[in-house]
Amino acid sequence: MKESDIRFIKLLILVNGLVPLALLVWDQSHNRLGANPQNFLILTTGMMTLIFLILTMAVTPLRKIAGLNWLIQFRRMLGLYAFFYGCLHFLCFFSLDRAFSVSSTLTEMLKRKYLILGSTALIVMIPLAITSTNGMIKRLGGKRWRVLHRLAYVAAIAGVIHYYMQVKADTRQPLVFAAVLAVLLGYRLMVYLKQRKPPAPTPAVKPEAVI
Ligand code: HEM
Repeated sequence: MKESDIRFIKLLILVNGLVPLALLVWDQSHNRLGANPQNFLILTTGMMTLIFLILTMAVTPLRKIAGLNWLIQFRRMLGLYAFFYGCLHFLCFFSLDRAFSVSSTLTEMLKRKYLILGSTALIVMIPLAITSTNGMIKRLGGKRWRVLHRLAYVAAIAGVIHYYMQVKADTRQPLVFAAVLAVLLGYRLMVYLKQRKPPAPTPAVKPEAVI
């Protein structure tokens, strides 16, 4: 793929990633966020976080299965959008639901256990975002960077469980996210196990076979 095409797709992702936020700001300023605007903001930013996390996790399997190597160029952007919406999601909760009170946020976490999982997901995304630059990749070295970035699995798993646990009745949607994530992680596990398998021993050549 040409460099100019890559730049264009990056611009598309950048602009489209901001559309949900722009719509939220627009609807909020026109009082169109429904009966419970605070909850709408929390839920929408949470959903965007999860969608971007899953998209980020889908890049490597898609790239390898379909041979679309250029997809890797967009993984960092998708991951950073996941982190961006995750921070917004937390900020909406912390400001609108907890009135910026740290003690009330911590008390609520002990009451609603799914908040602990959400926070775990967001916290493990911090080192991922910090080390996402080319400079940091160089400084850490490819191998260490890859090991560290396995934390993305933790974030995605904790994020999906957080979603599942906070749903009141209909669990179908979180289960669809869980199924998609299971397929993506299953693919990685399969590749990992294949790579670890020792090469089959070469059969000893019987003397009579040589004759
Ligand atoms: C990577 C981290 C996170 C992800 C992927 C995530 C994802 C989600 C999703 C998908 C929802 C439901 C959206 C819907 O039903 O449409 C949700 C709801 C929610 N999340 Fe998160 N979340 C994360 C972190 C957090 C954190 C750190 C907090 C606060 C400490 C938090 C607090 C909440 C709350 C309060 C709700 C709404 C629950 C309700 O109204 O019943 N989340 N989150």
